[in-house]
Amino acid sequence: MKNNFTFTIGIVIVSDKGSRGERVDESGPVIEKVLGSVGGAVKKYSIVSDEKAEIESVLLEMADELHVDLILTSGGTGFSHRDNTPEATLGVIEKIVPGIPEAMRAESLKITPKAMLSRAVSGIRKKSLIINLPGSPKGVEECLDTILPALKHGIEILRGDASECGRH
Ligand code: MTE
Repeated sequence: MKNNFTFTIGIVIVSDKGSRGERVDESGPVIEKVLGSVGGAVKKYSIVSDEKAEIESVLLEMADELHVDLILTSGGTGFSHRDNTPEATLGVIEKIVPGIPEAMRAESLKITPKAMLSRAVSGIRKKSLIINLPGSPKGVEECLDTILPALKHGIEILRGDASECGRH
């Protein structure tokens, strides 16, 4: 990404234990570091429980009130009965963006077969792009590496800054 490109990000750590202060959040700092290196500035950073309504509420705040360009969730995409992040995301998005989780799973499968256990989704609400990432810092870094090359163009189009794809 070009150095002069800046955008706002919202980080949502989804974890029952994290929200109770029983687990140190190691994934948020990875998101902050990786996105910060390409012009992303954190506008809001939240740690919420796995409760679907709580996840939806913070996503709505970030998209509708704070107008964050990119919202990244981490955690709650697996098979546990408390994993509700994809459902909360689907509950608030207006358009689904299947290519982003498809790319994350395809690349991640080259690293671990467990990548197929992530039910992550991605979509657009108003002018915000929401992307689910896995909970582990390693998974976060691997997935961000995959999607980073396409993010700038996606955010530019969402903001109305770019109209032609051919030149990018
Ligand atoms: N993707 C990558 N790139 N690297 C990983 O280590 N872990 C997987 C998967 N996706 C992983 C990954 C595992 S073990 C699980 S259970 C699912 O993400 C769901 O993780 P979550 O419930 O923490 O969101």
